[in-house]
Amino acid sequence: MKQKYYYSVMACLDSTPEEDVVVINLSAFDEFGCEGIEEYNLDEAAIDNILGREAYLGAEIPNELIQKLEGKAGKVKYHFLTQDNANCFKDFLVGNKISCELEKNSWDDWNKKWKEHYKPIVVSPELKVIPVLNEEDFAREDDCIYIYPGMGFGTGTHETTYLCLKIFTDLFKNGFRPENCLDFGCGSGILGVAALKLTYANAIFCDVDRDALDNCKKNLYLNFDDKRLHGSSLILRERLKFPEGFDLVYANILENILLAEKDLIIGSLKKGGQLIVSGLLKDQEKDFLTKFNPDHRLEKVRTEISGDWCAILFEALT
Ligand SMILES: C[S@@+](CC[C@H](N)C(=O)[O-])C[C@H]1O[C@@H](n2cnc3c(N)ncnc32)[C@H](O)[C@@H]1O
Repeated sequence: MKQKYYYSVMACLDSTPEEDVVVINLSAFDEFGCEGIEEYNLDEAAIDNILGREAYLGAEIPNELIQKLEGKAGKVKYHFLTQDNANCFKDFLVGNKISCELEKNSWDDWNKKWKEHYKPIVVSPELKVIPVLNEEDFAREDDCIYIYPGMGFGTGTHETTYLCLKIFTDLFKNGFRPENCLDFGCGSGILGVAALKLTYANAIFCDVDRDALDNCKKNLYLNFDDKRLHGSSLILRERLKFPEGFDLVYANILENILLAEKDLIIGSLKKGGQLIVSGLLKDQEKDFLTKFNPDHRLEKVRTEISGDWCAILFEALT
């Protein structure tokens, strides 16, 4: 049998400002088809993990362990299914003066790696996200979102996605039952799937990326049968002209895209509709609020924070 490979780009980002790392990470997914990121941050847990018993016992740290620690600081590994995508991403990093190396890895390690990294995520008692590596491996439960891991952005492990799910489940607990939903920048479709799982809503899944829509479709059929999907659809961004009348809109995209698309995003809401915006750093919130909602068509309801990220819930006033 022909040997299969996947490709990783190991980048050294120790002297790259954090805002730039965020943009690089999101660009890796959005523009270069990255399938997953492994970060080697030297937080306390990571250090303990590397030092193991030595740290625990307070013993002198051997030289080779110190080198290992130093070698891992600020390194980020980006995984790709094709060499072309990995090469393009590497060129992008080199163009931004970031040192990096391309690795070719045996396909046999792929599933093993995903299994190590993707554990079920409990968003709330109402909702869990379950990675599905093997279609026979799961039973369709109503409180579970099933997602193929390794299919681009939207496996629920990223804070920006998690925050949207958290806000949505809180709304749900408070009695919110949307009849329809727009998942704008749907990626894997995880956010719209949450709305379809917990309510009787229909959803429109929209993305600029055809591959994302293909992946989203696969995830939809992983979660629902044809009957439940009746009334929902997938649409490329360029075909989504003037959507309107949505009870719930999600938009988890980079700040500059949210701003560029603000008229469409805000215009798609029904009066009283709920908009969950994510993909913002905490520090960007103030400036974003001024630029995104200059004519006060929205009322900010709350901000939810996780790590450096924030997501904002708005209600449409008009
Ligand atoms: C950060 S991912 C979010 C994926 C998923 N919604 C989630 O929350 O995990 C952003 C997605 O927005 C898509 N995107 C980027 N620009 C867009 C635009 N102008 N219109 C629609 N989708 C866009 C990207 O292709 C990507 O799939």
